Amino acid sequence: PHIRYYDFVLQETNFTRLCSTKSMLTVNGSFPGPTLTVHKGDTIYVNVHNQGTYGVTLHWHGVKQPRNPWSDGPENITQCPIQPGKNFTYEVIFSTEEGTLWWHAHSDWTRATVHGAIVILPSIGTNFPFPTPYAQQTIVIASWFKGSVEDIISYALATGGEPNTSNAFTINGQPGDLYPCSNGTTYHMLVEYGKTYLLRIINAVMNREQFFGIASHTLTVVGQDGAYIKPITTSYIMVAPGQTMDLLVKANQPPSYYYMASSPFSDTIVPFDNTTTTAILQYNSNCTRPPSIPFPDLPGFTDAAAARAFTSRIKSLGGGRNHPVNVPKNINQRLYITVSVNVLPCPDASCAGPNGDRLSASMNNISFATKPMSILEAYYRNLSGVFDKDFPDNPPFYFNFAGNTTSVSDYTAIGTKVKMLNYDDEVEIVFQGTNLSAAENHPMHIHGFSFYLVGTGKGNFNNVTDPKNYNLIDPPLINTVGVPKNGWAAIRFLADNPGVWFIHCHLDRHMSWGMDMVLIVRNGKTMAKRLLHPPAHMPPCS
Ligand code: C2O
Ligand code: CU
Repeated sequence: PHIRYYDFVLQETNFTRLCSTKSMLTVNGSFPGPTLTVHKGDTIYVNVHNQGTYGVTLHWHGVKQPRNPWSDGPENITQCPIQPGKNFTYEVIFSTEEGTLWWHAHSDWTRATVHGAIVILPSIGTNFPFPTPYAQQTIVIASWFKGSVEDIISYALATGGEPNTSNAFTINGQPGDLYPCSNGTTYHMLVEYGKTYLLRIINAVMNREQFFGIASHTLTVVGQDGAYIKPITTSYIMVAPGQTMDLLVKANQPPSYYYMASSPFSDTIVPFDNTTTTAILQYNSNCTRPPSIPFPDLPGFTDAAAARAFTSRIKSLGGGRNHPVNVPKNINQRLYITVSVNVLPCPDASCAGPNGDRLSASMNNISFATKPMSILEAYYRNLSGVFDKDFPDNPPFYFNFAGNTTSVSDYTAIGTKVKMLNYDDEVEIVFQGTNLSAAENHPMHIHGFSFYLVGTGKGNFNNVTDPKNYNLIDPPLINTVGVPKNGWAAIRFLADNPGVWFIHCHLDRHMSWGMDMVLIVRNGKTMAKRLLHPPAHMPPCS
């Protein structure tokens, strides 16, 4: 394994999109930010210099960081923000991950502009579990807001209403031909006829799951979330925010131009950005642009059946050299956690929520509140008064997935509660989608672990019949799971990573409203199973 060093300079940079210019926070002046390319098992040090105007943290999404939550990044969970004029060096420890992951800011909504790809190649001397592609390309799908994302979320939280929706989606920083003032800069990927390319797709969109496809070309999906899967051939994929997908694409069509496109998947009725971002797959640099370019046939934005048809096909590569499937079978920690969007009473008359309430989100009816302090530091130093250890294993009352009602008795409690686990606990979590207010899929993400998705279904989870249908043979090993609207998803993992780990919905408005919780895994018995000591200069908490 290698050690590498990087400098990330957080700086305000002017960008022009959709006919207007704004200043936004970037890493090293680029959007998306720089790609980190490593080999499996490497360790990297990223020195982040904050030359912006507000505090920021960075997170390495899907990197398990064994024993090292100190460099994991979520604001006020594992560290306090790096203040303007200050720097902090993250130690990013790669272990079993191989494929595509990404990094992003993890404070307020800064990740809208501060994010980039992580490419994890096979360790030196080993190969992909498929023929080596001719070339590789990262495809980062993101959101573009004409306004300042920090203003959008702070205004929404202050008034309790919905934040503004995005004004466009982007592929590699560009909105594409369907948006005003954009077709001169649409991203072009050049290919040679007959060659096979590895596309590394990252959904960095703030608040939407996305479909993606390429006109006339078959996609062969070979990886998800930094692990390989059994190859799937398809004309489209569905990728949730936080997730990554690795695709092989053979350039086997008549040499010309073909659109690749990504459009949102949303089965809710709340207003949202329903626009489509495009890029162009272009054969040979000297091929001329045809008068009309074929467009991929993507599912409609409410097509939940198409989304599900794709995700239900994903299975671990399983049995392969690098990926023994090792699903925990002796579960000793069972959590049944509702994920809900609901409301809280208004503090005053300026409240902009649905019925004079303010919008909120919760897990087991607790809306997570951060403290101006690091939970990791409080745990490590045994400070009291920062968090409570009583996150419930079950919801406080029966949530009817089809109820679609909101009454005062459904109001959530606000709390900073953690779930304590012992080292080597075998954990099952069933996330239950509910319908207290708007029902929506929730891409739930866990820091510090990959987990096996052993089952998913519609309606309320039945703890007698549903486990009989679990896939314990080759379930996908992922870090972000789409919990279906009014349905459930069951995951399993071994708690072998000591420390403090965040769990949250990767739709940022739900995360901001409190659809979050924290796991603390206690130290194991030997030195190799204990939390590392903190680095010398953690950003101070005020
Ligand atoms: Cu992709 Cu908690 O993050
Ligand atoms: Cu959500």
